[in-house]
Amino acid sequence: MIYLDNAATTFPKPPEVINAVNDILTNHGGNPGRGGHFFSRICGDKIFECRENMAKLIKADNPENIIFTKNATEAINLAIKGVVSRGDEIIISSMEHNSVLRSAVNMEKIGVTVKIAKADLSGYVSPQEIELLITDKTKMICVIHASNIVGTVNPIKEISHLARKHNIITLIDCAQTGGILPINAADFDMLAFAGHKGLYGPFGTGILYIRNGLNIDTLIEGGTGSFSESALMPLSSPDRYEAGTVNACGIAGLNEGIKFVLRENVYEKEKELSKRLKELLFNIKGIHVLGKNDVGVFGILFDNKDCVEAARILDEKYGIASRAGLHCAPMAHRTLGTISKGLLRLSVGYFNTIEDIERAALALEKIILYN
Ligand code: ALA
Repeated sequence: MIYLDNAATTFPKPPEVINAVNDILTNHGGNPGRGGHFFSRICGDKIFECRENMAKLIKADNPENIIFTKNATEAINLAIKGVVSRGDEIIISSMEHNSVLRSAVNMEKIGVTVKIAKADLSGYVSPQEIELLITDKTKMICVIHASNIVGTVNPIKEISHLARKHNIITLIDCAQTGGILPINAADFDMLAFAGHKGLYGPFGTGILYIRNGLNIDTLIEGGTGSFSESALMPLSSPDRYEAGTVNACGIAGLNEGIKFVLRENVYEKEKELSKRLKELLFNIKGIHVLGKNDVGVFGILFDNKDCVEAARILDEKYGIASRAGLHCAPMAHRTLGTISKGLLRLSVGYFNTIEDIERAALALEKIILYN
């Protein structure tokens, strides 16, 4: 199988990720932070090491501001629901994934107003569009770092600085960029990550970074292994936001994934693969590549072919994994004018080769000509 669905989840994972998951489950499966014994301590140490490595990756000064969630969606829900309340306004961009759109819109039932900053036809969200929507009720601005359907990168630093000028909290959805593009936590209030994408960790892992001094409401409550005498959640991070036993084996694997991206230059590798894919796709008649494809994500529009059918043929006839349709981002597809047809998405990862790219382009050419 030629795997070109890395925007959905990266595959394969580095062997050390798999070994770390296996090691916890085989040798050290004690509940972290819930006991003083050796197994519990080993597990707890791995989890703290992962916080430290993630803090290093995003240049956060305090590893305790790294909060583990089950995915980027949970991180985003925690951030949005923990910050906005009745009467507040939240600005999101028109390129957001349903993880942001649905959690923001769900807050309308308690009297929150959701405003949408429209991106241009390449999927780019300008700070000026956002600024037009700011009022004295704006509590939060949430923008995707890079589109999950066309890979366009947004000017998140400028957007965050704009928000700071107006005393507004920012949340950046880094699901498609964590581990690939450099991010400096000092510029942001909150950053959401998917552990299983560019951080090369296992499924079931996500991260929310919350800056020092920003104390938000909890999404779930329960045991934390600390301050157990109190009926209230602790105020300190990360315990405040991590009720219940964490995904220790997933986080041990994620730790190795983060070490891998700290070691390797994933972005440079993806850039080389993307450059070749872009050249080849631009020369195929009957398709159009949308967006800026800054992070190895290519949304392909066919003149005369159903994208879901093309993905099926790629899979069944050529052994190539892609993703077609709306990619859980209908608002982004409306923005790009692709809501009725959807797109076929090819997305590269560190383990792809130039040969994978060339075979995929050739397969697409054949599908357009013969199938
Ligand atoms: N959000 C993931 C995607 O874009 C699953 O495919």
